[in-house]
Amino acid sequence: MNPETAYVRDPWLDRWLPLLREATNHAAHPVLELGCDTGIDTAWLLRQGFAVTATDIAIESLRRGRQVAPTAHHVQHDLRTPLPFANGTFGSVVASLCLHYFAWEATLAAAAEIRRCTAPGGLLLCRLNSTHDVNHGAAGHEEIEPNYYRVNGYYSECKRFFDCAAVETLFARGWQFLNLEERTNHRYEQPKVAWEAVLRATGQSPAATAISPGTRTGSPAATRPPQ
Ligand SMILES: C[S@@+](CC[C@H](N)C(=O)[O-])C[C@H]1O[C@@H](n2cnc3c(N)ncnc32)[C@H](O)[C@@H]1O
Repeated sequence: MNPETAYVRDPWLDRWLPLLREATNHAAHPVLELGCDTGIDTAWLLRQGFAVTATDIAIESLRRGRQVAPTAHHVQHDLRTPLPFANGTFGSVVASLCLHYFAWEATLAAAAEIRRCTAPGGLLLCRLNSTHDVNHGAAGHEEIEPNYYRVNGYYSECKRFFDCAAVETLFARGWQFLNLEERTNHRYEQPKVAWEAVLRATGQSPAATAISPGTRTGSPAATRPPQ
């Protein structure tokens, strides 16, 4: 739980509510929130009427999450391991700023697991650190893999930053991009630049395959959301 943001809601999900409603059949296909931290987005999702399963690796974050979002189903889970859910369980998945701590192979595997657990036609709302996020570690650190740095950060020793090609590569299989935008938010003292990706699960759910960031296999459609 980062004390800097523990109680501040960053309303990034609001503009996607109509799409979330359309993709999520509340009873049969709940929302999965990954890296839920202290439950601020979880509580918002519950207030919109969704059934929510919320996961995080940190026990203390989950404890706080259970307080602010008591009707969500909380599960401790490490995103470097398979998700403990059946294929196609969720109508929507929310993954905000939690997929950037891992080596590339593990990042690909996490994306494949997300796809496996998303129902065909379901939605993924995702935010990923941008390579332009210089205020938050995208420069000046030891590089372990391309755009993956030893930052000795609050949540993890290492942090990844994505360029457009890496985001496209990560979701090249089993997803259709509905939107991909680089946006600046002001949730921290210094502005933060992140990719906001909105994706629809297509018919097939491929296994994780070793493809390098920058191997472009598709391009996002330019559908823009309501501002
Ligand atoms: C920057 S916070 C983002 C929290 C929230 N989603 C948001 O946007 O405000 C990153 C979250 O990812 C979680 N996290 C870090 N490493 C993880 C891992 N290996 N597996 C699952 N969650 C992890 C942290 O505990 C933390 O709650």
